[in-house]
Amino acid sequence: MTLQSHGPASADDTVGRRIAALAPWFHNLHLPSGHETAPDHPLGDFPSFKWREIADWIPSDLDGWSALDIGCNAGFYAFELARRGAHVVGIDHDEHYLTQARWAAREFELDERVEFRRMGVYDLGATSERYDLVLFMGVLYHLRYPLLGLDLVARCVKRLLVLQTLTMPGDEVVDAPGDVPIDDRERLLAPGWPKLAFIERELAGDPTNWWAPNHACVEAMVRSTGLEVRERPGHEIYVCAPRDDADATRTAVADEVRAATGRSK
Ligand SMILES: C[S@@+](CC[C@H](N)C(=O)[O-])C[C@H]1O[C@@H](n2cnc3c(N)ncnc32)[C@H](O)[C@@H]1O
Repeated sequence: MTLQSHGPASADDTVGRRIAALAPWFHNLHLPSGHETAPDHPLGDFPSFKWREIADWIPSDLDGWSALDIGCNAGFYAFELARRGAHVVGIDHDEHYLTQARWAAREFELDERVEFRRMGVYDLGATSERYDLVLFMGVLYHLRYPLLGLDLVARCVKRLLVLQTLTMPGDEVVDAPGDVPIDDRERLLAPGWPKLAFIERELAGDPTNWWAPNHACVEAMVRSTGLEVRERPGHEIYVCAPRDDADATRTAVADEVRAATGRSK
C-alpha cells in the first residue's frame, strides 16, 4: 500500500514505541492514551473523515447486530461498529494489519466485541456465516476477480452493505436496454454505460489496483449480485441492501460461484 504513515515522530513511551514497532500504518487510530497511530497520514485524519460520511447511514444502536468488516486493516471501522453495540468480525488477508488491529482492540478494551481473522475475500465462499451489516470499504478494486468477490460479499449480507470503491470519473447512468443488437455496440461507448477500466500495471504506484469501475458500473454490479443501492452518502460510497428477489439472483449464479471457489458439487 502506498498511502501509509510510519507513526509518530517521537516514541519515548511504551505505547509510542509499540506504535512505531507496528508501523507502517494506514489507519490513524486515536487511542485512549492520546496517541495517534498515523498522525502524518498523507490523506489527513484517515479514515475518521470517511467515517463521518457514513456514520449517519448506519443505525446508532447496533445492539444485537452482527457485523463483518472486510479488508478491516487496523480495525478503525470495526471499532466504531463495536462501540455502537455490534459484535464484529474483521477480516484481512494481511497479517501485518491484523497484528495492529488486535493490539488496538486491547488498547480500546473492545477485544470482547471484535474478533479479527486472517481471511481473504474469496475465502468467504467457504463460510455460511451471514451478517446484519457488512462493510466492504476500499477492497473491490484490489480484486483481480471483482464480480466474483462482490457475489461472495453479497451472500453474507442480511440487512446492509456499505461499499466504497475507487471509481472512474463520471456520474452518468444510461437506461440500458434489455438486449443490445450485435450491430448496435456503439451504445456501449456511451459515457453512462457500465464500464470497468482494467489497470494492467499500476495506479497511484500500487500494482494491486486492478480495476476502476464507473458509477454506472458500481450500481449495475451491485444489482447483479441481488442487492440495490439505497443511498450514496459520499463520493464513491454506496449503502446497499438486499432486494426482495436477492435469493433468486444468488441461486442463479450459485453453481458458478461454487466452482470458481473450488467447491463444485
Ligand atoms: C485500501 S485498504 C482499505 C482498508 C479499510 N477497509 C478502509 O477502507 O480504510 C485495503 C485493505 O484490504 C485488504 N485486502 C486487500 N485485498 C484483500 C483480499 N482479497 N482479501 C482480504 N483483504 C484484502 C488490505 O490488506 C488492506 O488492509
